[in-house]
Amino acid sequence: MLKGNLIVKNAAEIVTPLGSKASFGKEMGNLNIIKNGTVVIRNGIIEKVGTTEEILNAYNEEDFQVIDAEGKAILPGFVDSHTHFVFGGYRAEEFSWRLSGVSYMEIMNRGGGIVNSVRGTRDASEEELYNLGKERLNSMLSFGVTTVEGKSGYGLDLDTELKQLKVMDKLNEEHPVDICKTFLGAHAVPAEYKGRTQEYIDFMLEEVLPKVAKENLADFCDVFCEKGVFSVEESREILLKAKELGMKLKLHADEIVQLGGAELAAELGAVSADHLLHASDKGIEDMAKAGVVSTLLPTTAFCLKEPYARGRFMIDNGCAVALATDFNPGSGFTNSIPLMFALATIYMNMSIEEAITAMTLNGAAAIGRADSIGSIEEGKKADLVILKYPSYKFLPYHTGVNIVEKTIKDGVVVMSNQ
Ligand code: NIG
Ligand code: FE
Repeated sequence: MLKGNLIVKNAAEIVTPLGSKASFGKEMGNLNIIKNGTVVIRNGIIEKVGTTEEILNAYNEEDFQVIDAEGKAILPGFVDSHTHFVFGGYRAEEFSWRLSGVSYMEIMNRGGGIVNSVRGTRDASEEELYNLGKERLNSMLSFGVTTVEGKSGYGLDLDTELKQLKVMDKLNEEHPVDICKTFLGAHAVPAEYKGRTQEYIDFMLEEVLPKVAKENLADFCDVFCEKGVFSVEESREILLKAKELGMKLKLHADEIVQLGGAELAAELGAVSADHLLHASDKGIEDMAKAGVVSTLLPTTAFCLKEPYARGRFMIDNGCAVALATDFNPGSGFTNSIPLMFALATIYMNMSIEEAITAMTLNGAAAIGRADSIGSIEEGKKADLVILKYPSYKFLPYHTGVNIVEKTIKDGVVVMSNQ
């Protein structure tokens, strides 16, 4: 990808968390704010951040492309650290059933849900998945997302799992958004293994996971740990094997019922535990102690009409909370950052500052990349968002509306919404 030499000057404010690790508890509310700020970028890396006055005296603008950001706020590019964006087929019909009162798990038990998307994804060619993925990444970019995590898990057989991961590899090479890949072979038991969960796990552990690890096809391994899907014991077995193969761990935990997923993530030293709608007090305490990032996905709770995860309680109890969209064809077919931001601040009682940390530095930490992205600091990648308004406080205030004017990736303007 192209790396830019760019000066973004005169910004009304540069707003960012600081650091190269997740931010925990009350610290999440601490943002560094530089009024009338300028960022200098060389070869796609942030070289200098400060007030316009101090910086422009030291640099010759002629050596750079220059953007005047007068009247606009600048933030780090958003990190959407939990999505399932490579899939074939849609489930609009299922959504309408949910509106009339049928639950997500009931639909799954009737042979719909994830296995419905498995059919669509197995049927789609690599090229179709690539084109769909590209369109979805473009939409993310327009919301200011510069790095995204994407999961397999709509294949549930060797070829299709690898197909999803390879499509992400190709998109990562050819599209400006950076992609972190997660293997989610344990997303559901496919129809051909119905009633034979352990055999399916054995197949994953003996034939698929080793290949994924050996060919370096995924950075993380994830499991849908849920009543009626994979139990805590089964999830432990899968994740221990992944760990043994050198992969980092994630977990879909305590989404529909309280199963002990948060506790398991802490026990295994997972990088993140995600969803957590029903995480127990003990699970929350364990995550905080073990340094597991608690990734909350409010748009999914919203679409499922489920209660939101206890973000406020988690932060008050020392957790590092990240926010992500969970963009997927079933439980939440939305990659809307503005909707997520509104739900987190209005309904989960996170402060605006905490929500920003959750979408930037802690999102980066949730995919193990806080040392290179997630904040506007010297030495980090120049992934930035320029808002249309002078203050970050417009993010929840202009409710549900996209106020990103430009997205900058590696110092290059890759998207302009005007
Ligand atoms: O994160 N919960 C499991 N996986 C996804 C939903 C996948 C789907 O419904 O297709 C989630 O909510
Ligand atoms: Fe998910």
